[in-house]
Parts: sequence; C-alpha cells; structure tokens
Amino acid sequence: MGNTFEQNYFYVINYPEQERELCLLEMKSLFNKDLTKKYFFSSRNIDPSRSPFIKLRISLLYTASSLQELVQILSNEKITVNNFKFARFRIEEGKLDYATWIQSVTELGKVIQGEVDMKNPTIQFGTTLIDGLWIFGIYEKNENPWEKHNLKPYTNSNSLETRTARAIVNIAVGQQGQTRLVDPCCGVGTVVLEALSLAIPVIGYEINWIIAKQAEQNISYFGYDSCIVNGDMQKITERYDVAIIDLPYGLFTPVTHKQQMDIINSSRRITQKLVMITGMDMDKDIISAGFTIVDRCTVNKGSFVRFVRICY
Ligand SMILES: C[S@@+](CC[C@H](N)C(=O)[O-])C[C@H]1O[C@@H](n2cnc3c(N)ncnc32)[C@H](O)[C@@H]1O
Repeated sequence: MGNTFEQNYFYVINYPEQERELCLLEMKSLFNKDLTKKYFFSSRNIDPSRSPFIKLRISLLYTASSLQELVQILSNEKITVNNFKFARFRIEEGKLDYATWIQSVTELGKVIQGEVDMKNPTIQFGTTLIDGLWIFGIYEKNENPWEKHNLKPYTNSNSLETRTARAIVNIAVGQQGQTRLVDPCCGVGTVVLEALSLAIPVIGYEINWIIAKQAEQNISYFGYDSCIVNGDMQKITERYDVAIIDLPYGLFTPVTHKQQMDIINSSRRITQKLVMITGMDMDKDIISAGFTIVDRCTVNKGSFVRFVRICY
C-alpha cells in the first residue's frame, strides 16, 4: 500500500500542562480538529514553525501495515536520494522503542539508493509506527523562529509571553494569511511582532507614548517597518477582520471597569472577529457589548490566569 491517505501530513505536538488549553484551541483554529492526543494526521499544510506547540511534521510519502511491506514499497519505488538521514523523534504516546526504530531505519536505509549523511543531510526522512500504521515521509522540525523575539529590547510586566502571543495570533487568524489584523492595545508590540513574522498584515495602537515608542523600537529591531500608532483605540475609524485585545488588567497601573468597558464597546465597532484576553472572567461584559463568545480557554502563568475568548 502506498500513501492512499487523504491525510497527507503527520504532526506531533507538545505543551506544558498550563498551556494545554491554549494549544488545543490553537490546533482547533489551524486544523479544525479537537485533539485528544499529541499526534494527528491532517490534509492541511501548515508550516511546523508556525505554532509554538507543533514539534515536527512528516509529509507522508508511503504508509504500510508492516515494516516488511514498507521496505518492499521503498524497494519497488527505487527511491534515489543522496545525503539523507533518518531523524529520531519522540511521540509521548508512541509505542516504538529505540531498538525497533534502529532496526526499521537500518532496513529502510538499505533499500534507499544513495549515501547517508548524518552531519549535513540535504533531506531528513521520518518513519514511525503509529496506531498500527507504519509511516514514511519527509521530516521537518519546528525551528522555533519566535524564540529570538524573547530578546526584543523592551518588555514589561504586562507583556504576554512570546509563545502565548504567537498562539493567539494563530487562533485569531486561523488558516487565512491575508486577514487584516489590529491590536488596539498593543503594549510593547508582542502580538504585533508575531503577526509580522507570520507575514500577516497588522497594525497596533497604544495610548501611552512611551510604550508606543518601545513597541516601535521592538519592531524595527527585527527589521520590520513601523506599524504602531500612538493613539486611543476609541478613535479608530477603520474596520478590521480580526482584533486581538489584551485588555489592561489594572495589575500594575490602575484601570477602572468603565475604561475596560469603553475598550470592549469600541472594539465591537472596529472588528468582525475578536480574540479577547482578560485577567478575570469578563464574559458578561463581552456579551453586553454585543459579542457572541464562540470558544474559550484559560492560560496560567504562576497564579495569574488569563481568560482567552473568541468572539464574533
Ligand atoms: C495589557 S497591556 C498590553 C500588553 C501587550 N499585549 C504586550 O504584550 O506588551 C494593555 C495596554 O493597553 C494600553 N491602553 C489602555 N487603554 C488604551 C486605549 N484606550 N487605547 C490604546 N491603548 C490603550 C495600555 O497603555 C497598555 O499598554
């Protein structure tokens, strides 16, 4: 059996327990799947470096019900490739032990025509046994490109973690790349930076001129053109496809409920879809502004809980 699968890709994910809900919501937005395991097949072609939770992807070439069958397929196909290697990877719920993996790559390697290059391979293959199916394909790991954003010049105590911001951009935008995104309370630009690095058109508003300047500097530090406006989001006149609002929490600088409500009410005017992040459960307030909450999760950072809501 060759790859007769409609599902052309195999993905492996992982997450720390406190980010489990965030990861599952991100996977739902990107793949339209409610996951119960840390691996899955999909027909969707999503770059594994896009999400902080995808560990690797295998673009499937062949699948078989036994190793012998897979070896036979590769042998029949006369696959010729130089400088290849097999990547070793872990699946938490996987059952393939090291000895069986070594045996499988030795047998598969013998029928691939070409040289192995363990140091500088031009292509990496991935193979594993999962739920009784042997899979073989091209392996790509997540290069974690956002990690460099942790070194941005400015961050503050209100800032989202870079990985949280990246997942939230994916939750907001889903599969679509050309969505017009706005972050009306952008702080030092954590969300804006992730959107830019994912090539998503974005604009950030920040009322405090010092923080707005810091956001601008963070963005130019990574070579992006300025897309920060120093201004009050309540004065925004354009309408956007999606907004991500990280509402002022009042943890470090005082904020009144009225100020928070003004922001929520204004956001109804400027966006079709909203991903709202709050420091407490504000569902009633969000609904009273005219939004319908369609999905949700919480993200824990120590004892601080952030409430994420997807609204239309
Ligand atoms: C929770 S912080 C956002 C943090 C941001 N997500 C980050 O990672 O840096 C909320 C920000 O909203 C800004 N803000 C408050 N009211 C605003 C308004 N009416 N218009 C624009 N920005 C506002 C605050 O100055 C603050 O920087």
